[in-house]
Amino acid sequence: MANVIGGIGTTHVPAIGGAIAKGLQNDPYWSPFFSAFDKVHTWLDKARPDVVVVFYNDHGLNFFLDKLPTFAVGAAPEYKHADEGWGLPISQPYPGDPTLSWHIIEALVADEFDITMCQEMLVDHAFTIPMSLLWPGADSRPVKTVPICINTVQHPLPSAARCYKLGQAVGRALGAYKSNDRILIVGTGGLSHQLDGKRAGFINKEFDLMCMDKLVHDPQALTPFSSLDIIEKAGSQGVELLNWIAMRGALTGHVKKIHQNYHIPISNTASALLLLENNAGAVPLRKVG
Ligand SMILES: [Fe+2]
Repeated sequence: MANVIGGIGTTHVPAIGGAIAKGLQNDPYWSPFFSAFDKVHTWLDKARPDVVVVFYNDHGLNFFLDKLPTFAVGAAPEYKHADEGWGLPISQPYPGDPTLSWHIIEALVADEFDITMCQEMLVDHAFTIPMSLLWPGADSRPVKTVPICINTVQHPLPSAARCYKLGQAVGRALGAYKSNDRILIVGTGGLSHQLDGKRAGFINKEFDLMCMDKLVHDPQALTPFSSLDIIEKAGSQGVELLNWIAMRGALTGHVKKIHQNYHIPISNTASALLLLENNAGAVPLRKVG
């Protein structure tokens, strides 16, 4: 059976890509953010994932407001990046894993998730920047990928409970996947931030740290939040927390925190990093009713 080895939550703001392109990782402004990934790199060197399943949200590159699925799963042999207008270098394509993608798609539909399946899918900065943070080096492609896109843009958005259940369903699918693959789950975005409107620049450290704490051992505590609740508490773009909640749902074993970083601000955003190890031999967490 495939082994889900852990989960990582990370911020994905475009300015990170600009800092990488300019080599500013040791700049005083950026160092508290980038240096926190050293422990993640050490862990990844030991953990040696074969595949990474990435929960993220598209910002208008592959989907736009006219047609926007709540949940979409990539099933392509590779995933291309494209110009998003940020002035960032365009990443080389990322290898897919169509066999695993179709296994997840079959399992999700059987589990009553009516997802959109994408045999072509552009991936935006919410996918490419975390991959660059985890595996630095412009063209480094050491793992296969399965992108899972959650709508955090066009209302109505899914609830925290729905995203957690999606993650649990993905976790069950991976647990039933006949393979020796070592699979890492990633959730990207957030944490609290709001880019426009009366609360532009809004950050809620207390809420962010509470969420990071609950994500370790009590993720169900976050499932009562509606998407509008999260927007109120974390800002209109802080709702990207939903991707972290889905990531945590996919960790169905005993979870242990390996590393955490929280740094304010990075480009008007509360930047955060959370590395969780998953012992798949443990009793699964209960399903949310
Ligand atoms: Fe975003």
